[in-house]
Amino acid sequence: MGYVSESFWHDAVNKATTDLFTFGYKHVVKPDLVFSRPPDQAHDDMLAFCRMAGQLPPLLWLERAMLDYTDPVLETTVMGVDFANPFGLSAGLDKNCEMAAVLDHAGFGFETVGSTTSRPCAGNAKPWFHRLPEYDSMMVHVGLANIGSDQVIDRAEQAWTHADGMQVSVSIARTNDDQVGDLDEGIEDYCVSMRRAAGRTAMVEVNVSCPNTTAGEPFTASPENLDRLFDALDRIDRPQPTLVKMPLNKPWEEFRDLVAVLAEHNVQGLTIANLNKDRTGLQIPDGWEGGLSGGPCTAASTALVARTRREFGDRFAIAGVGGVFTPRQAYERIRAGADLVMFISALMYRGPQQITVLKRGLARLLKRDGFAHVADAVGVDL
Ligand SMILES: Cc1cc2nc3c(=O)[nH]c(=O)nc-3n(C[C@H](O)[C@H](O)[C@H](O)COP(=O)(O)O)c2cc1C
Repeated sequence: MGYVSESFWHDAVNKATTDLFTFGYKHVVKPDLVFSRPPDQAHDDMLAFCRMAGQLPPLLWLERAMLDYTDPVLETTVMGVDFANPFGLSAGLDKNCEMAAVLDHAGFGFETVGSTTSRPCAGNAKPWFHRLPEYDSMMVHVGLANIGSDQVIDRAEQAWTHADGMQVSVSIARTNDDQVGDLDEGIEDYCVSMRRAAGRTAMVEVNVSCPNTTAGEPFTASPENLDRLFDALDRIDRPQPTLVKMPLNKPWEEFRDLVAVLAEHNVQGLTIANLNKDRTGLQIPDGWEGGLSGGPCTAASTALVARTRREFGDRFAIAGVGGVFTPRQAYERIRAGADLVMFISALMYRGPQQITVLKRGLARLLKRDGFAHVADAVGVDL
């Protein structure tokens, strides 16, 4: 099938339905069906909807016909993986790999399932979420709840092999339960999931920066600890590229030292960055625990992408994540050095059609500035 951008009628329908979805989400779905419920319940309902929709081929067909936007300017190859577009779902929304069919038909370039852990994990006590609409943000305190990497990676492999165009990555993390032991136990925990993932997904993301666990973040606490983890992971034979999910709030020198360690290992990409722990200047109730997504991440994440790209050149591919809501913000992130762009909060605050809004808008901005391919714009602002 040809590109949507090159078919007058398909393009017109895609634009009209995207505008309609944007209006419907803002004025009906968000106020009456999503934000009218507690965020934990809205999250469960969203997953139940995706499970149901994923079983209905006619609905999936309609979804693709209305929402998927394809354009050669968006195609890109990063770390040897081909992407129909640079946009992906960031880790954490689809922990147990239940949304893949819906995301594939909506036209995501990729999704990251997980984070998943070697043992099934119940996560922290609820509530897991608080909304902060004044900041386009969610406060997240899930604590890595998931059904275990054994099952999640089985599902991810199925999703990847059945997807029409979407790549599937799996985020692996350390189990957050009462069996957590010393550093070596933590390393083995990652290794179990890495062995399970080897060769079964397009990419693996190693999450060393979850802010919500009882064990804390020992692998970003010192370069030595990170080195030990990746010494062990290097010994696991795997064909797919590995990204590392980095923390947002380290002082630059500490962050740079961690990246310098990763540069010596079998790591091809950095995902910059995880949730924001810095509440400075924000009005947030005292009892709320967790890290911040969305708006509070935008500026800090773009700056960290740019600084990392400047310092480490082409050593790593960079997936930029945090507070990307608009095509202009995505374009800015790419011009700052990101090869790929991920998001979650934009879906909650703007709606599921935001993937199409981002793709259409980015394609327009790239063409306006004379870029033939998205890869040509990576890092041009540096
Ligand atoms: C509901 C939710 C759950 C998340 N869970 C994870 C997770 O399991 N692993 C992870 O690496 N990041 C997790 N994150 C962080 C996101 O992947 C992302 O880094 C962060 O939300 C910033 O992107 P955004 O502003 O587009 O939401 C989670 C975020 C949200 C909103």
